Amino acid sequence: MPTDMLDAIINRRSIRNYTEQEVADDLVREIITAGIWAPSGLNNQPWRFVIIKDRDIRAQLAEQTHYGHIVLAAPCLIAVYLDRNLIYDDIKDTQSAGACIQNMLLATEALGLGAVWLGQILKNKDAVRKILALDESLDLMALIAIGHPSRRDQQSQRKPLTDFIIKQV
Ligand SMILES: Cc1cc2nc3c(=O)[nH]c(=O)nc-3n(C[C@H](O)[C@H](O)[C@H](O)COP(=O)(O)O)c2cc1C
Repeated sequence: MPTDMLDAIINRRSIRNYTEQEVADDLVREIITAGIWAPSGLNNQPWRFVIIKDRDIRAQLAEQTHYGHIVLAAPCLIAVYLDRNLIYDDIKDTQSAGACIQNMLLATEALGLGAVWLGQILKNKDAVRKILALDESLDLMALIAIGHPSRRDQQSQRKPLTDFIIKQV
């Protein structure tokens, strides 16, 4: 793995503060392209995306989560869905969505943008589906809030590596 890729993985941070600058459509397409190049079981590519920039829709979505201030502040949101018509295994398809979302987060960093994975809104996924006027076959996996970072001093911690390794045999 190239060192800069490893650096990107380790130095990526959740970014929750943005300037008001719009996120250009070509950048949004690059982010989604990174997402769709994630691996998926049987290469079934079960993900679907809704790009949301409209302020009124963002305001409606903001009411569905404790993190509404982030939803309102982000000039661009991408809702990541699983298409239930395409899935073959709940666990594996959900894992594929996670890989897709992580690719998208890393792409935002590579493009000089900042993003955060919003999951708390899933508790109101039915309301979100109605706001976005989507078919019931679509299952919300995450909302990604994206913008140009207004600061870059975010810190995060991880437990020591030894806490995670069960054993080496
Ligand atoms: C499944 C999932 C759900 C998350 N939901 C939220 C959320 O609703 N709101 C939020 O501010 N951050 C959310 N996050 C971001 C985490 O808080 C963040 O990744 C974690 O604190 C580690 O910080 P880091 O991403 O900067 O390393 C979520 C992350 C994941 C993977």
